[in-house]
Amino acid sequence: MNAEEIALETRAMTGTDFVREAVRAMSAYTLEPRVARDKLDQNEGAFDLPGDLKSEIVQRVLGRRWNVYPDFEALELREAIARRAGLTRENVLVGNGSNELLMIAMATLVAPGRRVVIPTPTFPLYEKLAVIFGGEVVRVEVDPRTGLLPLRAMLSAAAGGGEPALVVACSPNNPTGGVLAPGDLDALLASGAFVLLDRAYGEFWDDGAPAPSDRLVTLSTFSKAWGLAGLRIGWLESTPELCGEMRKVKLPYNLNVFSQEAALVALENEPLMRARVEETLRERARVISRLASMRDLEIFPSRANFVAFRVAGDADALFAGLAERGVLIRNVSRYPGMSRCLRVSIGTTEQNQRFLDAIADALAGGSDRSAR
Ligand SMILES: Cc1ncc(COP(=O)(O)O)c(C=O)c1O
Repeated sequence: MNAEEIALETRAMTGTDFVREAVRAMSAYTLEPRVARDKLDQNEGAFDLPGDLKSEIVQRVLGRRWNVYPDFEALELREAIARRAGLTRENVLVGNGSNELLMIAMATLVAPGRRVVIPTPTFPLYEKLAVIFGGEVVRVEVDPRTGLLPLRAMLSAAAGGGEPALVVACSPNNPTGGVLAPGDLDALLASGAFVLLDRAYGEFWDDGAPAPSDRLVTLSTFSKAWGLAGLRIGWLESTPELCGEMRKVKLPYNLNVFSQEAALVALENEPLMRARVEETLRERARVISRLASMRDLEIFPSRANFVAFRVAGDADALFAGLAERGVLIRNVSRYPGMSRCLRVSIGTTEQNQRFLDAIADALAGGSDRSAR
């Protein structure tokens, strides 16, 4: 048979027919590009790195050869991260944002049919990745009013199948702001579950580093408290054995020279990050107390650098009214369990003030696009 005859015998398939069913059924993780004076929609750290530290990073990068690959193992950075946590570099992997490490962890741990317990609403990427890798997602409802993740429901969902489940816990949780209470992580691990703990906002909630376990992977990022979202750097901590398995999945040279140097400089200046976290926490208290004094808003407790709240009226209209006033926040009202909810990141004092003024004005019906 020649090629044409073989083609005639084969069922015709278009390009997208080759796409896996699980992927075709998904929607993409997207963010509508919007320009605003005050961007308080993505929970980035409020403060840029000071100019002198940026210059130092650039100087270090200028001193490196760009025609050679970066350190294959990112040894210096992994060492520096491990030292902070009293671990060894074998306990640490670094990646192009914690998103990349989340993908690596899911690809390593989620076999087809494995149950993945996801307290919801939460960061949407967990469910997307679990589905891509063939996991069976078990959603557990998070009540944003409690300020906590629902331990009991998580435990019973984890125990529900034949074999122990993978439990994803985002603490503090995006977008609700709630946390795992002290002791809850131990309870989850004691149940036999494997826990993927996302500590992206961990610096804002000083719950201490979790005790090591051979069924625990934690994810952290330089994108939030450390103020380096633009450079895409994250890290993962686990046992040397699990890190060894995940290293098989990770692509080589995933962290470039610039990012590695920037993260090292950030770590050398950790007191700066701590001071900025303190300032963000002070501002969070101020924003919450002002919002709480406004009629028709229900504020949810938050341990992170953002605050979610429910609007008595039309959340879409309030979101649009804020955007008209130059303040972009996040409309999370289509997240499960978050009807009529919005989420605002804590910015600088000036940004927060403009947000508070804008929302007071919008709620008072200060334009045609009234929120009520
Ligand atoms: C819970 C959570 N995890 C991870 C990330 C992404 O982190 P990174 O920038 O390190 O990829 C985000 C970003 O918003 C997040 O909210």
